[in-house]
Amino acid sequence: MDSTTPETPETPENAETIEAAARRSAVLEESIAADPGAFRILTGDRPTGPLHLGHYFGTLANRVRLQRAGVDLFVLVADYQVLTDRDVADHLSEHVTGLVADYLAVGVDPSTATIFRHSSVPGLNQLMLPFLSLVSVAELRRNPTVKDEIAASRQASVSGLMFTYPVHQAADILFCKANLVPVGKDQLPHQEITRTIARRFNERYGPVFPVPDALLSPAPSLLGTDGQKMSKSRGNAIALSASPDETALLVRRAVTDTERRITYAPETRPQVSNLVLLAALCQDRDPHAVAAEIGDGGAAALKKVVTDSVNEFLRPIRARRAELVADGAYLRDVLAEGDERANEIADRTLKEVRAAMAS
Ligand code: TRP
Repeated sequence: MDSTTPETPETPENAETIEAAARRSAVLEESIAADPGAFRILTGDRPTGPLHLGHYFGTLANRVRLQRAGVDLFVLVADYQVLTDRDVADHLSEHVTGLVADYLAVGVDPSTATIFRHSSVPGLNQLMLPFLSLVSVAELRRNPTVKDEIAASRQASVSGLMFTYPVHQAADILFCKANLVPVGKDQLPHQEITRTIARRFNERYGPVFPVPDALLSPAPSLLGTDGQKMSKSRGNAIALSASPDETALLVRRAVTDTERRITYAPETRPQVSNLVLLAALCQDRDPHAVAAEIGDGGAAALKKVVTDSVNEFLRPIRARRAELVADGAYLRDVLAEGDERANEIADRTLKEVRAAMAS
């Protein structure tokens, strides 16, 4: 392989990787159903603002489902990753508690899940050092996700932390010996670096780490209200915590077309289909059925259905979130407990790593 991997993830080469990951994910789902206790999941989010519906259908719903199935769940508030992009590092502690509120509001159960943050777990961060020794600069340089993130961040220069971020992510996953990582397609290159590091460590120093699998979400991916990738920086995302009026406004501004008949055809009518999909996911129904029901109602009818479906769906989540946010002490306690548990595990792993490297 050379170092000229294309910037966009839509290459045939990547399509193959994504397909292979999807096939592997189907096999994994069967193993999880058969023996959920054999799996530990590590996943996480950057505390840069409220989570939105894209997060919910892309990953949060999957985490809750897997936790309820009996998988051991670790959720990382990736506050050190925020350092890779200093422009968004304001209001960090507010975003951290907001993230914990989002998790609990959607149904993550803190009595069995471990919710923790980078900055509270020194043992995790310490792993970065041996891990950095196991990858080459060329391997880091051709990571397409880092390339995309660098492009999206519009920074004048790239920090060393941004560049080596996938190695830190390997520490996130391997410190607790997670063997399953639910990810979106864009995170597959990072996941490959984690697997490489685990394999190389074990080969060089002896078997310490599992080689974790990526688990792709079963839900089709949701776009923002403008038909672009949903992200809060683009102003096209419906936050779980948004009010019904804010939701209505975002949907009203959504891009549609002039054809009155509403259909679900993601290839040819991406924006309209995305709105149909959003309503369908909220109603837990087939998007074709939702589109047929709206029929010749046009964009206005579609938008009304979307607004009502989203607000109905989010109502209990928003109510629970409001209660949680009112009790900041409880949210901080949940995080402190998770931090403590993560620390114990990190220290144990670090001891094993030291022993393996010394012998
Ligand atoms: N990099 C992920 C993101 O940008 C967040 C993250 C950090 C993560 N560490 C992780 C995801 C470990 C999965 C596993 O959204």
